Amino acid sequence: MQILDHPEEYSKIDLQGMRAEIEGLPTQLQAAYQFGLSQPLPAWKDIRQILIAGMGGSAIGADLLIAWLEGICPIPVILHRDYALPAWAHQPGTLVICSSHSGNTEEVLSVFEQARQARANLLAITTGGKLAQSARDAGVPLWRFVHAGQPRAAVGWSFGLLLALVTHLGLVPDPQVELLNAVANMRYQQEIIGCESPVAANPAKRLAGQLVDRWPLVIGAGVLAPVARRWKGQLSELAKCWAQFDVLPEADHNTVAGVIYPQDQLSRTMVVFLESSTDHPRNHLRAEVTRKVLMLEGLGTDTYTAPGNSALVNQWTALHFGDYLAYYLAMIYGVDPTPVDASESLKAELSQRG
Ligand code: F6R
Repeated sequence: MQILDHPEEYSKIDLQGMRAEIEGLPTQLQAAYQFGLSQPLPAWKDIRQILIAGMGGSAIGADLLIAWLEGICPIPVILHRDYALPAWAHQPGTLVICSSHSGNTEEVLSVFEQARQARANLLAITTGGKLAQSARDAGVPLWRFVHAGQPRAAVGWSFGLLLALVTHLGLVPDPQVELLNAVANMRYQQEIIGCESPVAANPAKRLAGQLVDRWPLVIGAGVLAPVARRWKGQLSELAKCWAQFDVLPEADHNTVAGVIYPQDQLSRTMVVFLESSTDHPRNHLRAEVTRKVLMLEGLGTDTYTAPGNSALVNQWTALHFGDYLAYYLAMIYGVDPTPVDASESLKAELSQRG
């Protein structure tokens, strides 16, 4: 915990510069949107449904977008984290977007190939790899961006490019003002939760302290449901800690029942609720009552309330807070936040096996 008040020491643990990636996220988000607007698109006619194929850090941008689109987009946009192109996506009028930071993720490459064979409208989003090559070979539109770090650190890209795409397609009102507002609010919040801000004045550092040696469960609703997933992913990938996420109102229909066993594990659980001004009022109430129920069962609980009064502001400030939180937990555990050795060796074994 002491390390958190010594940001000059972070670089001894953070050997590959994850701090700079997190600090640069507001700039990345804005740049990605502008870059997306400058990219060419074919004159696709009559797009009736969109499927986005992606995994991990490349999928989360789509998750965020889809939650934001829910109240405003007239057509369904579905995220697909798997190998096979769903049957409905074979219908005419489907746009399939294959998004992979490395361009080498096998699930996404599999969907790309099936969508190509099905002659679907296709777009590839990547920094390179096999996906860029396949798109070029097949004459498929390709949005190629430059980002040298980890895919999860490129969440501004994976979201910003898709936001530009749905703007291009005329599916949403111009989001520029709301996006700039989100970026400004992230920068403002950063003054408070950034690395130079001491523990006493820094809620992200204090929450990281509460998570030490505990099992975090992050719960969100509406536009913050994918942010809960992001917090969980970042806690796992940066701090290498076992973490879970859940979503309201669904969690009230099952998760809350499972608070009796195993007792020693539950006493080490820390449940963090993500709340925002854009939550459905019933979900807001549910978060309050659910927190009370869990507290009475002896679970640790806390709430993070996202600043601002628009969905994009809520999403991006909450996401940024979670990135800092996971980073600080990594510093306390003394673990380098960048490498994900377990995922890499798993991918290597899978590719060895054919
Ligand atoms: C690693 C990370 C992973 C990857 C995932 C898919 O930083 O975030 O979750 O995003 O393994 O790889 P890409 O994004 O290259 O398709």
